[in-house]
Amino acid sequence: MAKLKVNQKTVNIDVPTGTPILWTLREELKYTGPKFGCGRGLCGACTVLLNGQAIRSCVTPLVAAEGQSITTIEGASTVPKGAAVQEAWKQANVPQCGYCQPGQMMSAISLLQANANPSEKDIESAMSGNICRCGTYQRIKKAIQIAKNESK
Ligand code: FES
Ligand code: FES
Repeated sequence: MAKLKVNQKTVNIDVPTGTPILWTLREELKYTGPKFGCGRGLCGACTVLLNGQAIRSCVTPLVAAEGQSITTIEGASTVPKGAAVQEAWKQANVPQCGYCQPGQMMSAISLLQANANPSEKDIESAMSGNICRCGTYQRIKKAIQIAKNESK
């Protein structure tokens, strides 16, 4: 049994604490925004925030989130920079197939929470673990530049 906060709500989950956070979110709590890609921490499709920090939920066990706060794309608008990133993604028309985008956006939110004015290099480095098979990288960078100038 684990107790944690997901998208600001307290939840008690009766699954083994070694279960990856991604499975807990998708199968138990029905938050299907975080996606399964590689399952090995290599693609970023499963990225969520753990206390504001971007993590790969496919390789992070539930025990790491015990008593902590998780934010998925479904709750992104409730955290600092979340609404700005969502708005910027729309403005820059970022997604193509969309599969990688929840993870991309959570990494962008984590970056902007830690660094309000990231350079081109900072953006490239923070986003380098999020793969997009559709090649939307230029639009992602543009959206982060838009979002960093928003106060939300
Ligand atoms: S599914 Fe988690 S990093 Fe690829
Ligand atoms: S938008 Fe298709 S994988 Fe990124």
